Amino acid sequence: GRLLFLVMWLNLLPQTDSCPAKCVCYSEPRPTVACQQQGLFSIPTVIPVRSQRIFLQSNKLTVVRSTSFSSCHNLTVLWLYSNNITYIEAGAFFGLEKLEELDIGDNSNLRTINPTAFRGLTKLHTLHLHRCGLSELPVGVFRGMFSLQYLYLQDNNISTLHDDTFVDLANLTYLYLHNNKIKIVTDNMFRGVINLDRLLLHQNQVIFVQPRAFSDLGKLKSLFLFFNNITVLTGETMDPLVSLQYLRLNGNQWICDCRARTLWDWFKRFKGSSSELECYVPEFLAGKDLKQLKSEELEGCVETSQIQTTLFNSKAQSGKFSSTESPLGDNIPKCCLGDNDKSSILSGKSRQITNNPPKEKENMSKTKYKQQERTKNETQNKQNDGPLGTLSNNLDKTLENLNPEFIENPESSTASNKKKKKCSRKTKLDSHCSKSQSSTLQVLHFLIIPMIWISLAMS
Ligand SMILES: *[C@@H]1O[C@H](CO)[C@@H](O)[C@H](O)[C@H]1NC(C)=O
Ligand SMILES: *[C@@H]1O[C@H](CO)[C@@H](O)[C@H](O)[C@H]1NC(C)=O
Ligand SMILES: *[C@@H]1O[C@H](CO)[C@@H](O)[C@H](O)[C@H]1NC(C)=O
Ligand SMILES: *[C@@H]1O[C@H](CO)[C@@H](O)[C@H](O)[C@H]1NC(C)=O
Ligand SMILES: *[C@@H]1O[C@H](CO)[C@@H](O)[C@H](O)[C@H]1NC(C)=O
Ligand SMILES: *[C@@H]1O[C@H](CO)[C@@H](O)[C@H](O)[C@H]1NC(C)=O
Ligand SMILES: *[C@@H]1O[C@H](CO)[C@@H](O)[C@H](O)[C@H]1NC(C)=O
Repeated sequence: GRLLFLVMWLNLLPQTDSCPAKCVCYSEPRPTVACQQQGLFSIPTVIPVRSQRIFLQSNKLTVVRSTSFSSCHNLTVLWLYSNNITYIEAGAFFGLEKLEELDIGDNSNLRTINPTAFRGLTKLHTLHLHRCGLSELPVGVFRGMFSLQYLYLQDNNISTLHDDTFVDLANLTYLYLHNNKIKIVTDNMFRGVINLDRLLLHQNQVIFVQPRAFSDLGKLKSLFLFFNNITVLTGETMDPLVSLQYLRLNGNQWICDCRARTLWDWFKRFKGSSSELECYVPEFLAGKDLKQLKSEELEGCVETSQIQTTLFNSKAQSGKFSSTESPLGDNIPKCCLGDNDKSSILSGKSRQITNNPPKEKENMSKTKYKQQERTKNETQNKQNDGPLGTLSNNLDKTLENLNPEFIENPESSTASNKKKKKCSRKTKLDSHCSKSQSSTLQVLHFLIIPMIWISLAMS
């Protein structure tokens, strides 16, 4: 009987006080169990319940059990980074109501997280989930984490974020999402993070930022979007960022024409510091800093069917583009609206088209891109094709004439030298603009376009 009692006593002892094998335990400044770099394959089964800090980083752990830490109610710091954790059982962190810092980073085979993994961690202020091979964050995974201030999600494989993923994180100050595969920054992605100070989105594959994406970010000081694939960003998108101090937008594919106008205007109001924004098109502005351009250099619209086709393709592939906007927004035709030649009739038409319900509008923009692509091929063909060939040559010249310095043939550009608005329809139905100059061309338009409309109506 005494022996049995002794065995039981020895069994109970480690659960209260003694230190697990291969670990070092100390109580100052706080009760700590330090087991890092010990080649451990599993989490010690008995960990002193009074522990406030547990260090298990740089081992070879593969699983976190629901029972691993369940008795350590006073735990405030838990480091599990740089292991080979592939599975975290549901409930692994349940009841850790005092936990303030949880580091699961650098477990590149983890891949998924249970939607309820972080439930009840209402005191957590720092969560490291970088380099975990995550491609998705489950809906509601950060729900109720009202104290979270630092969230590290960089170096994963995340391509989309659900609406309201961070909506409860009103205390969040740093959100690191760089080096992922995010393609579209959506309107509701960052809803609720009203205290965000730093948002790192560089080295993703962002092609488009929706207009209200930053509307809750009035406290944001640093925004990094460099090394993405953005072509257009509007001033309206940037307007809510009233506290912004550091902006990096370099390494994108900026279209420096009328579509950049509102961003250029926004930079006139912006008081913080910004990287360069290297123009990608038009060719004659390539490499120049969008911010430094003269107002006149942003007149007109450059034909960019190549880029837009690429963008459209990646949009289709990303699959989750729920927006009603085309990737380049509805701003594209704006520079044509002031046109007071007869082509404004067509502008009216195209505006009707853009007023269609969202779904149809998206279908419209598909056709729009296709048409534009076709237009370019037609233009190329027409060059070898008698009178129309001359015509398209003129069109090509006028693109270059966007910048007065690039006038190659002064004779053919007399009309464009007049200070009138230089946009008109190049082709029927196409809402993108290019410039025409010779009155013969305009006459041709007046004749051909109505004929096309009539034949369309009749068929
Ligand atoms: C947890 O902390 C509280 C308050 O500091 C203390 O009273 C309690 O004894 C601790 N629990 C354990 C198991 O050490
Ligand atoms: C990580 O764990 C998986 C199995 O869970 C194993 O196949 C792999 O070899 C481990 N990697 C390392 C670096 O230990
Ligand atoms: C922010 O955190 C503090 C404590 O850290 C908490 O009292 C407060 O409720 C949190 N804010 C929000 C909006 O939840
Ligand atoms: C990243 O996600 C894509 C699918 O979105 C997948 O094909 C690829 O294997 C993932 N890469 C890694 C390293 O997990
Ligand atoms: C996207 O951007 C990256 C880096 O900025 C660049 O290397 C890549 O070629 C771009 N992709 C496309 C399709 O433009
Ligand atoms: C849009 O196009 C898709 C196929 O590309 C079609 O299934 C859908 O019905 C179209 N929507 C509308 C509103 O025309
Ligand atoms: C032009 O036509 C060719 C085939 O004739 C096609 O491959 C190409 O995508 C079209 N568009 C452009 C812009 O060249």
